Amino acid sequence: MFKKVPELLNKSQKLKVFLYFFFTLIVILFELLSLGIIIPLVASILNPEQSIKYLSILPIEIGSVNKDNIIIVIFVIFNILIISKNLILYLVKKYQVKFIADYQKFLQDELFNRYLFFPVSKLLNNNISIINRNVIDLSSEYVNNYLNPLLTIIADLVLLFFILIFLFLAEPFFTLSSIIVFSIFGISIFLITKKTLLLEGEKYKDNKSERIKTLNETFGAILEIKSFQREDKFYRNFKNITEILKNIQIKISILGFIPKLIFEIFAVLIITFFFLILFKNNLNLNDILPLIALFCYAIVRIVPIINKILNNAQRLKYSEPSFKEIYSVIKYSFIKSTHGEKFQKFDKEIELSNVSFEYIKNNILFENISIKVKKNDFIIITGASGSGKSTLLKIILGLFEPSKGDVLCDSNSIYLNINQWQKMISFVPQDVYILDDTFEKNITIGQEISEIDINKYEKSVTFANLSKFVENLPRGKETILGDKGSKISGGQKQRIGLARAIYSDTEIIILDESTSSIDEKNELIILENLKELKKIGKTIIFVTHKKDLKKYCNEFYLLKDKLLVKK
Ligand SMILES: Nc1ncnc2c1ncn2[C@@H]1O[C@H](COP(=O)(O)OP(=O)(O)OP(=O)(O)O)[C@@H](O)[C@H]1O
Ligand SMILES: [Mg+2]
Repeated sequence: MFKKVPELLNKSQKLKVFLYFFFTLIVILFELLSLGIIIPLVASILNPEQSIKYLSILPIEIGSVNKDNIIIVIFVIFNILIISKNLILYLVKKYQVKFIADYQKFLQDELFNRYLFFPVSKLLNNNISIINRNVIDLSSEYVNNYLNPLLTIIADLVLLFFILIFLFLAEPFFTLSSIIVFSIFGISIFLITKKTLLLEGEKYKDNKSERIKTLNETFGAILEIKSFQREDKFYRNFKNITEILKNIQIKISILGFIPKLIFEIFAVLIITFFFLILFKNNLNLNDILPLIALFCYAIVRIVPIINKILNNAQRLKYSEPSFKEIYSVIKYSFIKSTHGEKFQKFDKEIELSNVSFEYIKNNILFENISIKVKKNDFIIITGASGSGKSTLLKIILGLFEPSKGDVLCDSNSIYLNINQWQKMISFVPQDVYILDDTFEKNITIGQEISEIDINKYEKSVTFANLSKFVENLPRGKETILGDKGSKISGGQKQRIGLARAIYSDTEIIILDESTSSIDEKNELIILENLKELKKIGKTIIFVTHKKDLKKYCNEFYLLKDKLLVKK
């Protein structure tokens, strides 16, 4: 799994990781130097005469140094080393923190963008809670509990390796036996907990999305929940999920701190053992004390490092499911857009040529549908609920690809340049989604105030017969319409959808039951307006249940039994 980490880094991010390791090596160098000075330091305290020989390796002139001052000199060097090491460590850590924060932002933006360009058919298979979780939770889970520990673990392993070599040179037997004891212990802990960690990581991931889903669903269906008095049930659901998440958290935290406690006990035992052996052999205290000091210092440094390595290894296992998920989203390949100059303009006709479609294998919704929609036509498609009218419109839009056949515009497949094709169309879906934003921004979707074309805006509001409605809003066109349009009626939503289509002023307009919730008087005005659009060269495809609208169109089709028939 680690090998896949670089695949999610771009060139400049790889360079940053490389620099991080480079700086870390400098820290390690200082770490080793400060470790190396322990022996001369203690030896000089015990026997200042001897310390001259240690100082002779220094590049500075020491002839002038008084013997009494030698200890002070060594102490000063020791302090300078520690201060420099920590200063550099501060810079490296700052660099790492910045890199991790930058990368987290990058990943969130990238995931958002990825999902934005996912094919609709793929998105429908992704519950919105899963997208929410992956973009927000899992991206930070991956960066903080996988990538960051991985960087730290590598640096720590290198540091540990050098310290051990150093200690090995100073005292081979003791170092080697400690390495063996600690390794056996560390590896066993990791192996024993590995499976639990993976399992809990998987459970954590699933329950995170469940929690978001429950929250969204509960408040999305709040009217139904209240009217059927199911508050308790939904509350219980939520509590069950937070309970599971809580238990995972406890388990993981306990697994995280146990090794530290045991490690410390081992460290003290080993030191005691070492002491006893040395004393038993009746060695000169002057000779062994520097060594003991070195090992005490080394252990004080090493135990936290080993502990951190083990802890990070556990975090890596636990967060592996998050990484896999993120990886699969980023690496999911699809054709974002094909190039070409096609579909700048629409001249003659749109054609469905022998189109067949099925959502589920062998459950055919249409078979061999062929129609031509001429430029400037106003066609109506009708049919029973569930016959596939909305699906047919989405196929024309290129949101779903037919399983057989093709959609053509002026004899070119729309799949030659699907983005450009979609730019020529305004689509008003069956459920118009209202943004939690002002009325005006709802019509001009996504445009900044400075980009808004006031003329077109006014025209679209008049077209959808919304002028009176806006006038009566408390803050006019600046009024916020509320989450999913909670403050407006079904018919008003549909009229906003229509106004959007008119505002974007495209050649083709596709409407899915766009007048189903609108009263007859308003519907009449809108249909008359649509007829006017035909006069200025627009092409309209309109899906409706209402048969009496036939008089407005020039082609009338019925979708029935997998076929589209002209009436
Ligand atoms: N994403 C999907 N995955 C699987 N099946 C789907 C999907 N969307 C719709 N269907 C099924 O396809 C069939 C056609 O649905 P569609 O929404 O096109 O019907 P419709 O004619 O627009 O109906 P209505 O008049 O009620 O809006 C339905 O049986 C529906 O259950
Ligand atoms: Mg429909």
